[in-house]
Amino acid sequence: LITDGTFSFHRFLLKSLMEISIRPFTPKDYDAVIRLWLEVGLPAKPRGRDSKKELCRLAKKDASLFLVAETEGKVVGTALGTHDGRKGWINRVAVLPAFRRRGLAGRLVGELEGKFRELGLEVMACLIEEENQASMELFKKMGYEEWSGKYFSKRKSPES
Ligand SMILES: CC(C)(COP(=O)(O)OP(=O)(O)OC[C@H]1O[C@@H](n2cnc3c(N)ncnc32)[C@H](O)[C@@H]1OP(=O)(O)O)[C@@H](O)C(=O)NCCC(=O)NCCS
Repeated sequence: LITDGTFSFHRFLLKSLMEISIRPFTPKDYDAVIRLWLEVGLPAKPRGRDSKKELCRLAKKDASLFLVAETEGKVVGTALGTHDGRKGWINRVAVLPAFRRRGLAGRLVGELEGKFRELGLEVMACLIEEENQASMELFKKMGYEEWSGKYFSKRKSPES
């Protein structure tokens, strides 16, 4: 009996450790999100476009398009959706190394796609750096087709 009890307790513990929920970003997530982006090698610009003010403004504008994945109070993943009224853009998909290959990025992207559809957007897109094989595989698996071209941008400053 004791053994059974211990076994089910461990199973319960394991399950709760594995349970990862996805919810909208709130200002209190800010530090954890920046840490996560830096840890996974995404170009965070906390003095510019990723300042607390700017990310909170984005989160407020499109209330549910900035998502964080959380387990046991720890932010372990992110995805930031933006749109221009025609196309939904999927940005900043990131998962901490210890939580990878469990379908979490797929869940985050799937949630954003659902929200884009609710907004009537029929095209979804993302920009992926050429050497980012993991991300390319992720989006291919989710049905995205590659478009080859060059990305041009114009910035007010390097932090923009
Ligand atoms: C890319 C990233 C978000 C994937 O997160 P993840 O939670 O491990 O992805 P998932 O578990 O949802 O993977 C779904 C599918 O994507 C593909 N995939 C994910 N990581 C992969 C890898 N390292 N190599 C090859 N394929 C990979 C696989 O097809 C995988 O399905 P499978 O596990 O059944 O084979 C994660 O590696 C990451 O945070 N990378 C650093 C940040 C980054 O580059 N973000 C993308 C910016 S565009």
